[in-house]
Amino acid sequence: MALLSLTNLHTYYGRVHTLKGITMSVEEGDIVTLIGANGAGKSTTLRTISGLVRPREGTITFQGQRLGNIPAHLIVEMGVSHAPEGRKIFSTLTVQENLNMGAYRLGSNRARISANLERVFELFPRIKERRRQIAGTLSGGEQQMLCIGRALMGNPKLLLLDEPSLGLAPMLVKTIFDTIQQINDQGVTILLVEQNARAALRLADKAYVLETGSIVLAGPAQELLQDERVRKAYLGET
Ligand SMILES: Nc1ncnc2c1ncn2[C@@H]1O[C@H](COP(=O)(O)OP(=O)(O)O)[C@@H](O)[C@H]1O
Ligand SMILES: [Mg+2]
Repeated sequence: MALLSLTNLHTYYGRVHTLKGITMSVEEGDIVTLIGANGAGKSTTLRTISGLVRPREGTITFQGQRLGNIPAHLIVEMGVSHAPEGRKIFSTLTVQENLNMGAYRLGSNRARISANLERVFELFPRIKERRRQIAGTLSGGEQQMLCIGRALMGNPKLLLLDEPSLGLAPMLVKTIFDTIQQINDQGVTILLVEQNARAALRLADKAYVLETGSIVLAGPAQELLQDERVRKAYLGET
C-alpha cells in the first residue's frame, strides 16, 4: 500500500474548478515530484493534502487513513509537514522561535525536540549560526532552509515541499536539492513541487506532470526526463 494516495481529487476555489480529478500515489521512502507550469494547480494539490483547502470530490489516504475531513493541525500530527511556497516563516520571530513552532506537535517531549533540533542544525549549519537572528532579516536562501527546517521539527513521515528552489541563486539551488536528498536518505518520504523540472526529475524516483488541473503524464522520473513532450514543454529543448 502506498504511503499517500490521491484518488480522483477535485478541488475548487469558489466556482473555479482547480483540480480536475487527480489520481497519484507516493510510496514510502520515495521522492516524488509534481511538475507543471505556473497556475497548473501544484500548490493547490499540496494544500489539499495538508487540509488547507478541502476537496469537493475524491479521497486522500495517508497510511491507510482518510484525510479528507481531518483538520490541518491533526494532519500535521499524523506526520505530514508542509513547507509552503514563498517560505511562510514568522518574520518577526527569531530563527529559534520559528523552529520551536514547528515542534508543537511533539508537545513537551523535550528529548525528541532537542534531537530534532540537532538534526536540523546538522542539515543547515547556517541556521544554527543564525538561531538568535530575527527570521525576516535572513537571506532568501536562509529563509528557505528555515522553512524546511521548521517542517522537519515535527518529525514528519511525509514532507511536502513547494518550490524550494524558487528565486535562489544556482549554487544555493544545488545545496537545497542536495539537502532534500539527505533528508530523504534519513527516511523521510518527499513530495516535491518544482518549476525547476530538470533538477526535480534528476532527484526524484517518480514524477507526475500537471497541466491545468489534470495529470497528463506519470512515470519513473528518469523516463520522464527522456520523454520528448517533457523535454519540449518543461526542459526548454526544441
Ligand atoms: N486562493 C485562491 N483563490 C482563487 N484562486 C486561486 C487561489 N489560489 C490559487 N488559485 C488559482 O488556482 C489555480 C492553480 O493555482 P496553484 O495551485 O497556485 O498553481 P501552481 O502552484 O501550479 O502555480 C490558478 O489558476 C490560480 O490562479
Ligand atoms: Mg505554486
